[in-house]
Amino acid sequence: MLERLERLPVDPILGLMAAFRGDADPRKVDLGVGVYRDDRGNTPVVRAVRQAEQAVLARQSTKAYVAPAGNPGFNQAMERLVLGEGHPALTSGRVRTIQTPGGCGAVRLGAEILRVASPQSVVHVSTPTWANHVPLVTGSGLELARYPYFDRASGGVDFQGMMGAIERLPARSVVLLHASCHNPTGADLSESQWHELLKVVKQRGLLPFIDMAYQGLGVGLAEDAFAPRLFSAELPEVLIAVSCSKNFGLYRERTGALHVVSESAAAADAALSQLVRIARSIYSMPPDHGAAIVHEVLSDEGLRRSWLEELSEMRGRIQGLRNELVKKLAAVYPHRSFAYIAAQRGMFSYLGIDTPQVRELRVQHHVYMTDDSRINIAGLSTGNLAYFAESVAQVLPKH
Ligand SMILES: Cc1ncc(COP(=O)(O)O)c(C=O)c1O
Repeated sequence: MLERLERLPVDPILGLMAAFRGDADPRKVDLGVGVYRDDRGNTPVVRAVRQAEQAVLARQSTKAYVAPAGNPGFNQAMERLVLGEGHPALTSGRVRTIQTPGGCGAVRLGAEILRVASPQSVVHVSTPTWANHVPLVTGSGLELARYPYFDRASGGVDFQGMMGAIERLPARSVVLLHASCHNPTGADLSESQWHELLKVVKQRGLLPFIDMAYQGLGVGLAEDAFAPRLFSAELPEVLIAVSCSKNFGLYRERTGALHVVSESAAAADAALSQLVRIARSIYSMPPDHGAAIVHEVLSDEGLRRSWLEELSEMRGRIQGLRNELVKKLAAVYPHRSFAYIAAQRGMFSYLGIDTPQVRELRVQHHVYMTDDSRINIAGLSTGNLAYFAESVAQVLPKH
């Protein structure tokens, strides 16, 4: 049976990683893979995570199963982190949480429960969106469609285009939204735009499915969670998929959560029971290690403070790089504005060059990014920023 399987092409990001590894030029710059890096190009273990990990291991007396919905302490801590202490949806008992294998697991479980609840619903994603949204959503059997999102000319959100499309969606449509630090563009809605969108979502009876993979890496923990907090307070139903990969640096530990906000406590209980059943049919239960670490960090005052400090360092570094990059590019291109790079948030930005230019950067200058010219800002450093700007200047005409 297996003999007939067709070999699939290598995933573009994995292909890019392999090409980078094989490049012997010492000037090479990796802006492809979406992991945070420090100024030396490393992705270190977060200090509080290392300490919490030791405490968890020292205390652990068994490896017995935890619970079908994961670590209850983690789930509760995540609800407070995402929605904020005392959020009305929490105090009214309308939120249930299941721990998931990373943010991917959360997006997939969210899609699965939507398919059970409303198999005809279509999930609408932004153009562009994180490439993995497509298989995660369609893998559940739900149909996927797209709404306009990014305005290449301004480097910001095409809000008019987005609203024009969302205003026409039929009731029970699902709108997949990035809470903040939009991947791949870095272009986010403003608070007033979130309010406008909320009005339309309410009027048309749409279901927001919010993906939050970068809380704390944009503006701040509360600011980056503005949309899930507002929508959960104002709407009867919201799904929120959360990842701890980036803000806790727990990538390989596969740590995330899916929060379901329902109309009533009884409806929320029903949703959780369905989620547990779905998870059981795929992977039974989530891995504990990362969730135990996050729970430890969030419940220990000192570790929490240390984590917040490091998160703020990461955020500051990204913003500093954005500002420096704008300055460097402005020096080479006095007639072009790159100010949008500083206004965008999170790890990613679209450079706005075409695929042949991306390839030229890769081949001639050893600068690696995805073909759509998405760059991981955190891959830049004091050591390579000038070289990167000079390389861009070689491929992008001055006028
Ligand atoms: C928009 C978005 N959602 C979800 C994720 C989930 O990541 P993970 O499954 O590694 O937690 C990512 C990671 O890159 C992402 O960019």
